[in-house]
Amino acid sequence: MKITMIGTGYVGLVSGACFSEMGSRVTCVDVDEKKIENLKQGILPIYEPGLEAMVVQNHAEGLLDFSTSLARAMKTSSIYFIAVGTPQGEDGSADLTYVITVAAEIGKNLDKYAVIVDKSTVPVGTADKVRATIQKELDLRGVDIGFDVVSNPEFLKEGAALNDFMKPDRIIVGADTESARKVMKRLYAPFSRNRDKVIFMSVRDAEMTKYAANSMLATKISFMNEVANICERLGVDVENVRKGIGSDARIGYSFIYPGCGYGGSCFPKDVKALIRTSAENGFEPDLLNAVERRNELQKLWLFQKIIHRLGEDLTGRSFAVWGLSFKPGTDDMREASSVVLINKLIEAGAVVRAYDPVAMAEAGRVFPHAWFDDGRLVLVDQSYEALDGVDAMVLVTEWKTFRQPDFNDMKARMAKPLIFDGRNQYDPEEVRDLGFEYFGIGR
Ligand code: UDX
Repeated sequence: MKITMIGTGYVGLVSGACFSEMGSRVTCVDVDEKKIENLKQGILPIYEPGLEAMVVQNHAEGLLDFSTSLARAMKTSSIYFIAVGTPQGEDGSADLTYVITVAAEIGKNLDKYAVIVDKSTVPVGTADKVRATIQKELDLRGVDIGFDVVSNPEFLKEGAALNDFMKPDRIIVGADTESARKVMKRLYAPFSRNRDKVIFMSVRDAEMTKYAANSMLATKISFMNEVANICERLGVDVENVRKGIGSDARIGYSFIYPGCGYGGSCFPKDVKALIRTSAENGFEPDLLNAVERRNELQKLWLFQKIIHRLGEDLTGRSFAVWGLSFKPGTDDMREASSVVLINKLIEAGAVVRAYDPVAMAEAGRVFPHAWFDDGRLVLVDQSYEALDGVDAMVLVTEWKTFRQPDFNDMKARMAKPLIFDGRNQYDPEEVRDLGFEYFGIGR
């Protein structure tokens, strides 16, 4: 099938590449000329395992193309995916400016029946706005062309996005007409060969499904973080509790790892947006408010432990931070717990020596230049180098390479054998036996 994918950010690029991988002809469109030029050369704006190879290969085979002209791309296909950004507005709601701009552009160029698919995460009711925007442009042009607006939210985990797209648990399609359902069914047929993965529902139901899914997962995490904090006060090891409850199939093992908070581009933004939508419609979502609040407090948890142990004034102290991205497998630092922690440490007078296997360049962009210039924040090239002379090591992101370090080498390098483990990666007994003072989450 022929597809136009509008927006070459994370979602657009992964989706476009994966559709082309299944044999569809895809044109990815973006207003950013440099980005499009780079993509043609195989230079990607994001890091995602396997994506570069897929893009380069399918571009070479002529299945995946890149363009800055939406009008031209629209001529060659009749399925238009909107996968542009929906940044968080100042009031916590999703900013729909880009989505609506694209809808207007589609309305200006539409010349035959087409299915317009909302792929971006957008609040319930957005498809209605997209439909109205397109219709308004058609009315201005005085033309009568039929079209359908469909909601098809993504469920891609960064670091595992290709697998999530190619082998989805389910494909949610919100479509209000038979013609749109038919197009979507055909489009996703190659992804549904073993069993039918497409779940059809109304457009608004699909929009809500995305928010409910992410909010449910965020709730599991915040719940577990809360349990961990209770465990801590009771002399209970939350890791045993986690295994104990996860074995109940109704609860399950996934997304019940306690830690120093969830980050990324989805959970924080989506929970806030759902709270906002809910409040706007006259309902105060107590549980979601608590999920959000627990997460914000959880991001401060490591810092609280540090000052509890070392005192509030950290002048003259230095800390190694292992892991900067919001989770392993990505260089994404949006809403990362590391950012909150490092800000607090530096505010309290400390020096931070940070290392991440992938996110070093990103870290260089995220933190103020002044901190690098005066040495308050040092980015080191190697994990052990971060430990030289520090008062404590703080593990923030559970990259595999941090899982089984050489503790003796660590101890020899550190001024104090003190570990704050924000992701419960180490066995407290083992590290204590090796002479470390150890603080985890909920144990
Ligand atoms: C998420 C959803 O999983 C995906 O389906 C969606 O559409 C986009 O948002 P992503 O943001 O890539 O994906 O990350 P995910 O792997 O879900 O992790 C989110 C955050 O939760 C990370 O900061 C992670 O460290 C944290 N987390 C996850 C926990 O703290 N505990 C857990 O048990 C699981």
